[in-house]
Amino acid sequence: MINNQNETKTHIQISPIARPRRLRVSPWIRNMVSEHRVTVNDLIWPVFIQEGNNLRTPIASMPGVERLSIDLLTLAVKEARDLGIPAIALFPATPANLKTQDGEEAFNPENLVCRTIRAIKSAVPDIGVICDVALDPYTSHGQDGLVRNGIVVNDETVEVLCKQSVVQARAGCDVIAPSDMMDGRVGAIRKALDNAGFSHVAILSYAAKYASAFYGPFRDAVGSANNLGKSDKKTYQMDPSNSSEALREVALDIAEGADMVMVKPGMPYLDVVARVKDAFKVPTFAYQVSGEYAMLCAAAANGWLDREKVILESLLSFKRAGADGVLTYFAVEAAKLLKHN
Ligand code: PBG
Repeated sequence: MINNQNETKTHIQISPIARPRRLRVSPWIRNMVSEHRVTVNDLIWPVFIQEGNNLRTPIASMPGVERLSIDLLTLAVKEARDLGIPAIALFPATPANLKTQDGEEAFNPENLVCRTIRAIKSAVPDIGVICDVALDPYTSHGQDGLVRNGIVVNDETVEVLCKQSVVQARAGCDVIAPSDMMDGRVGAIRKALDNAGFSHVAILSYAAKYASAFYGPFRDAVGSANNLGKSDKKTYQMDPSNSSEALREVALDIAEGADMVMVKPGMPYLDVVARVKDAFKVPTFAYQVSGEYAMLCAAAANGWLDREKVILESLLSFKRAGADGVLTYFAVEAAKLLKHN
């Protein structure tokens, strides 16, 4: 190794006043000046549920992620709680025979999601339960809303989303997370929850949700990929080319009563996370979606990336961008890594 003395003798003399490397010389000082940190409190774990008992189904495009029956999910959620994970987000894989044109199963109080909420609330009462609100797990066409003459209609869909929200709140859900991107749904859901006696149930809106190709593996996981077929969600999810529009969406949702907002996907949209947090200062979450998970897993499986390091670095990037927390399929693994770090 060249020492500094020799270096100054044999190289051009430079003496900048500021030498940022002074603050990087050893771990203690790097730790002392570090600006952002991921903790287990930042992690929300999205999970997939299926019918049955003692059943687990691997999802090919999301290695390591499984759809679990309620009994097994309850055990997994206990483990998550013991690791300190504050909340889970529930996603049901609805049996094909229950999917209909208008997705009525969405507001059946005995549907898979409602039974799961009750099971988790009684077995693991101290973990937060967040439920997605959208019709895509329940519709035969795989769209998030009702389809009339080939069009995903807004206001009629919002009425159904209100019913879905109230049914989930009645089952014990703590946070309603509308992911459907219909206009005016946050205000309508807030009113419906309040009228039904659930003024304490919070709303985390997927305020800036983009029409993204990164959701592919998720649609395999909940079994909606075939229903959707070659259709897309571009008439309601946002155009990836827009970011000022995201601010407008967030402003509307906050005005309508959203307690927290989300940007989705995550890593390709960190600029949006930063703009949203900067502009509104409200609790802001980002969703590291299924395609992001799949990408990192695939590269790690090939030995192209160091899995543990990229998990933690990717989560840190969300915090640096201004996110207050991250929905991530890595939550349990990351919580374990953070324990040993
Ligand atoms: C349903 C919903 C989707 C995701 C979360 N809620 C898929 C979609 O909009 O098609 C995607 C999550 C992921 O990819 O991990 N409205």
